[in-house]
Amino acid sequence: MSTVVLVGAQWGDEGKGKVTDFLAEKADIVVRFQGGNNAGHTVVVDDEEFKLHLIPSGILYREKLCIIGNGVVIDPAVLHQELQSLADRGITTAKLLIDNRAHVIMPYHRLLDEAEEEQKGESKIGTTKRGIGPAYSDKSSRVGLRVVDLLEEEFADKLKKNVENKNRLLENYYNKPGLNYEDMYEEYKKFIPLLREHAADCSEVINESIEKGSNVLFEGAQGTLLDLDFGTYPYVTSSHPIAAGACLGAGVGPTRINKVIGVAKAYTTRVGEGPFPTELHDGVGEEIRQKGHEFGTTTGRPRRCGWFDAVIVGYSARINGLNHLAITKLDVLSGLPEIKICTGYKLNDKITTSFPPSLKALAQCEPVYETLPGWEEDISQAKSISDLPENAQRYLKRITELVGVPVAMVSVGPKRSQTIVLEDIF
Ligand code: GDP
Ligand code: IMO
Ligand code: MG
Repeated sequence: MSTVVLVGAQWGDEGKGKVTDFLAEKADIVVRFQGGNNAGHTVVVDDEEFKLHLIPSGILYREKLCIIGNGVVIDPAVLHQELQSLADRGITTAKLLIDNRAHVIMPYHRLLDEAEEEQKGESKIGTTKRGIGPAYSDKSSRVGLRVVDLLEEEFADKLKKNVENKNRLLENYYNKPGLNYEDMYEEYKKFIPLLREHAADCSEVINESIEKGSNVLFEGAQGTLLDLDFGTYPYVTSSHPIAAGACLGAGVGPTRINKVIGVAKAYTTRVGEGPFPTELHDGVGEEIRQKGHEFGTTTGRPRRCGWFDAVIVGYSARINGLNHLAITKLDVLSGLPEIKICTGYKLNDKITTSFPPSLKALAQCEPVYETLPGWEEDISQAKSISDLPENAQRYLKRITELVGVPVAMVSVGPKRSQTIVLEDIF
């Protein structure tokens, strides 16, 4: 029996979808525990590409139980659409459970997300505008609607009250048109049978399965540096993408977690605004963006690209208690004459490897680089570490040394077959 939490060790889009799908072969259950459809997890099976936003990346295996935990915020319209598009492609979605306690994203959350961003102007977060922040705000403010609320007859009254309150905010504060309660109720009533069909007490299901010896994989969304507490606040998401979030967002005690694996790209990317010390503004950044197809899965925005930052991944190792690293997209670096790794930040004439909480301090940090020789060879067919050019092996070894966490997997392409396993996770 094993329970594994998989998290993003950078700013998201590390390839969590690919690694989850790969590991899911040996898992019985795959659980999403935070975030919502701000996530975009790409899974390639044979030559087919699937972009999953809300549904766990284990769904492509017919027999796996997939769970959307209580910590996720669910947009019922997106759930409906994603299930439909999977069904259209012949994917069975019968084995999907969603937690009754999960909060629901409503149309006013999407509008508020947009209005808040617009009002922030220059200092906008660059959110995905999926209503994530406003939905989690309502959860914390104790006015949110949960899946279970939609299944009870009081839903109509609760929704009416919420729409009235949000309309006051939209109309009077943001100068936006309000929403019509009746229309919304009619639209959302249609999703009730779907929610009822999949709703369950997922914490109970997961814990019972753990007792029975099942392998459970917890699939994080976003990344450690986007965590509400530990990320580059306020340029973060509104949930907890870190390993501790799995306990909170799935109703599982910390004593039940066996391993934590951090997924990190062989370089760094970020979508949206906020600090990014190793960002490249030159041709190399553009080369990585093109070769790595670094455009957002959810919003299509170009991702900002930069060198591997051992400070942030080392920070992730600490915050998540990482046991292993999965390094992805190593193939993208092939052909670069030299590759840089950020080993520390220079701040006030001192070198530090601590990640500063202050954005002001972070802006003053100058990355300190170590330069390693690159490799020319195409590595996308490598099956073992010894198939990799010496310089690629050296690069991985240096990452391990700097981060202080062993590499268990190396990904050299989007497909399942393009994965080098150094240590079995399950
Ligand atoms: P996630 O949000 O962490 O699941 O990552 P995304 O799916 O948003 O972005 C990762 C992208 O890189 C996807 O298009 C994947 O298909 C692709 N990908 C994953 N691993 C590799 C790899 O090792 N090499 C290459 N070239 N592409 C990869
Ligand atoms: P996956 O799971 C990369 C970023 C947004 C924005 C910030 C807040 O695919 O790795 P939000 O809509 O969550 O309020 O936006 O977080 N962001 C992501 N960046 N990958 C993601 O998910 C992201 N989800 C949110 O770009 O900067
Ligand atoms: Mg993504």
